[in-house]
Amino acid sequence: MKVTIVGAGAVGASCAEYVAIKDFASEVVLLDIKEGFAEGKAMDLMQTATLNGFDTKITGTTGDYSKTADSDVAVITSGIPRKPGMTREELIGINAGIVKEVATNLIKHSPDVILIVVSNPMDTMTYLVHKTTNLPKNRIIGMGGALDSARFKFRLSEALECPPSDVDGMVIGGHSDTGMVPLTRLATRNSVPVTAFISEDRLNQVSEDTKVGGATLTKLLGTSAWYAPGAAVSALVQAIACDQKKMFPCSAMLEGEYGLNDICIGVPAILGKDGLEKIVELELSDAESAKMKESAEGVKKTNTLLDV
Ligand SMILES: NC(=O)c1ccc[n+]([C@@H]2O[C@H](COP(=O)([O-])OP(=O)(O)OC[C@H]3O[C@@H](n4cnc5c(N)ncnc54)[C@H](O)[C@@H]3O)[C@@H](O)[C@H]2O)c1
Repeated sequence: MKVTIVGAGAVGASCAEYVAIKDFASEVVLLDIKEGFAEGKAMDLMQTATLNGFDTKITGTTGDYSKTADSDVAVITSGIPRKPGMTREELIGINAGIVKEVATNLIKHSPDVILIVVSNPMDTMTYLVHKTTNLPKNRIIGMGGALDSARFKFRLSEALECPPSDVDGMVIGGHSDTGMVPLTRLATRNSVPVTAFISEDRLNQVSEDTKVGGATLTKLLGTSAWYAPGAAVSALVQAIACDQKKMFPCSAMLEGEYGLNDICIGVPAILGKDGLEKIVELELSDAESAKMKESAEGVKKTNTLLDV
């Protein structure tokens, strides 16, 4: 199993570290345009191998896509991150050109690759990759919902004063401060609806905190977060690499599902060796459907800024 990660910055390197520590891939290639940067990150990570007990071989390259040849999975994290006060949508001008070029180069050297798009605005970047490549739709997956759901579960665990591992929950919709749809109705603690433990008001607060989860961290850190994003991407890579058939909310190209067409937006999906193998259609309440529709309108508005 060969994994390429384009963009050896904060999220890309964090993802490489988690993939290596889980030790399911034989090889991870980091690629960046900044001279020597990916090589340096790869060397630093390799020097943790004996400490962290992994055999994954991590290498780095400055822009040489031949080193990525025959990758099974490739992650696109190249591009600029948010600064405090910025929305993800404001990144489109710079990131669209980068993502398009990177996807084209990856596919040229790995025609069978499964792509995971991370660069923001992620739903629109995923749509761009669908529109500008000829890959089948199961081989282009956007990562956002896995991260947003992890943030939701963390916030729920704080509210319930319980360990995060007790909590289950999911966020669908667009990966933006206004587009996320935390499915509070379905959130549970060990199969018990969370409303048995906290008030509606507290649950609404959890939802709001989840939606601005990225912005909260960007304000604290001065740039966007990387540990949870890297871990979320590595979980998707592992689900594909190990054919786990695990369910994550992912940005998928919809053709009628959830009443939506010609849009990439977060919906529950099963991930396995063929990439995004199945979209799971949940029965949404009227309120949830309305939020999903509004979220889709926001994503479509951003998509109109693309030249596709
Ligand atoms: N989808 C999500 O849930 C999620 C979460 C966090 C961050 N992000 C996004 O991921 C992206 C990366 O964030 P980061 O914090 O790692 O940023 P970063 O600045 O630390 O890293 C980005 C890297 O991309 C490289 N790069 C730029 N253009 C390139 C090109 N053409 N080819 C190869 N490499 C190139 C840069 O040199 C840099 O090292 C941002 O767009 C950010 O908004 C998405």
